[in-house]
Amino acid sequence: MGAEVVIEGLTKSFGNQAIWRDVTLTLPPGEVSVMLGPSGTGKSVFLKSMIGLLKPDRGRCVVNGVDIVTCSESKLYETRKLFGVLFQDGALFGSMNLFDNVAFPLREHTRKSEAEIKRIVLEKLELTGLQGAERKLPGEISGGMRKRAGLARALVLDPEIILCDEPDSGLDPVRTAYLSQLLIDLNAQIDATILIVTHNINLARTVPDNLGMLFRRELVMFGPREVLLTSDEPVVAQFVNGRRRGPIGMSEEKDAAQMAQEEAHAASGHSDGSSEDDLRGIVPQLEPTPGLPERAAVRRRKDRVMSILRSLPPAAQEGIIDSLTAEDRARYGVGVLAGVRPSPHPRGVDEVATLPKSTWDRP
Ligand SMILES: Nc1ncnc2c1ncn2[C@@H]1O[C@H](COP(=O)(O)OP(=O)(O)OP(=O)(O)O)[C@@H](O)[C@H]1O
Ligand SMILES: [Mg+2]
Repeated sequence: MGAEVVIEGLTKSFGNQAIWRDVTLTLPPGEVSVMLGPSGTGKSVFLKSMIGLLKPDRGRCVVNGVDIVTCSESKLYETRKLFGVLFQDGALFGSMNLFDNVAFPLREHTRKSEAEIKRIVLEKLELTGLQGAERKLPGEISGGMRKRAGLARALVLDPEIILCDEPDSGLDPVRTAYLSQLLIDLNAQIDATILIVTHNINLARTVPDNLGMLFRRELVMFGPREVLLTSDEPVVAQFVNGRRRGPIGMSEEKDAAQMAQEEAHAASGHSDGSSEDDLRGIVPQLEPTPGLPERAAVRRRKDRVMSILRSLPPAAQEGIIDSLTAEDRARYGVGVLAGVRPSPHPRGVDEVATLPKSTWDRP
């Protein structure tokens, strides 16, 4: 199982420019999480801080008992081997072909033979759909191929934690769908803890177990996917629906006067080109390709989410209970207590939420 990452009170600024403060969240082991946030809110800075490439002003980022923020250089070097990172720009070495780029961490961090390295590199290139391209230089392939090569390189050390900074940027919708499937399949196969930074709403709705959002120098929320997907926060509604109307502006957040003006424009019938359809709501989560093992994280997450159910907003509670199977209902005591109604029509969440905790909070 992948490692847990516990982040507490993490705060980062560059000179007098505050990037974000007091970010506290836990990446549950082996689960997939997505971090959303408008451009420039410091998502890439966040990922780099998690692996010690940037130094936060204060706070902790603890992996396997090691605090990345304060540990020694040698501990950091050791702990970093647990991470596979896909940087936003791919960060490939321009003068090395794809094979050597992907082989680089193996040659740097292991004593494996060249034959073994070749086996691993070709396996990862095939996994990411790059077989046959191993002799190409990064400058000779498309942006999407560079992304996938970056992902192949992030995987060669069998990481416990995978960080992906906009893995889908520059990819067409079909390739993005394949990439989403690839990430879920990977999670099923190696049970790694995965954090993905993305602007892709479809990926954010269908791939992760947990969703979070950075905005206005703070973590607006982070938790089970159902919480953000049912949230009434204006910034979440605006972001998920890709609308101009809302607190996020082109270069920064808007002030009250700008927002009032927008509302007045909308009220007078002006169309800003965005659809009135609301993309919020809980949609089914992507499952591993048939034939692959089930994701071990699914059962662990269900147990975890059911144990904190009552602390979640009502809409999220309702969504979570609606998604339980008959077997789950029996396991968590929900169906048994709902009893009077068959499973497709569960007891209302209010009734469940007011039940004694011990009746459904079972491991
Ligand atoms: N090494 C650095 N030195 C100084 N400022 C930096 C550094 N790296 C990032 N920044 C600043 O930190 C802020 C956040 O940058 P970051 O790249 O993390 O944004 P982001 O959320 O990843 O945006 P995008 O979605 O466009 O990738 C920006 O204002 C950027 O200019
Ligand atoms: Mg970025």
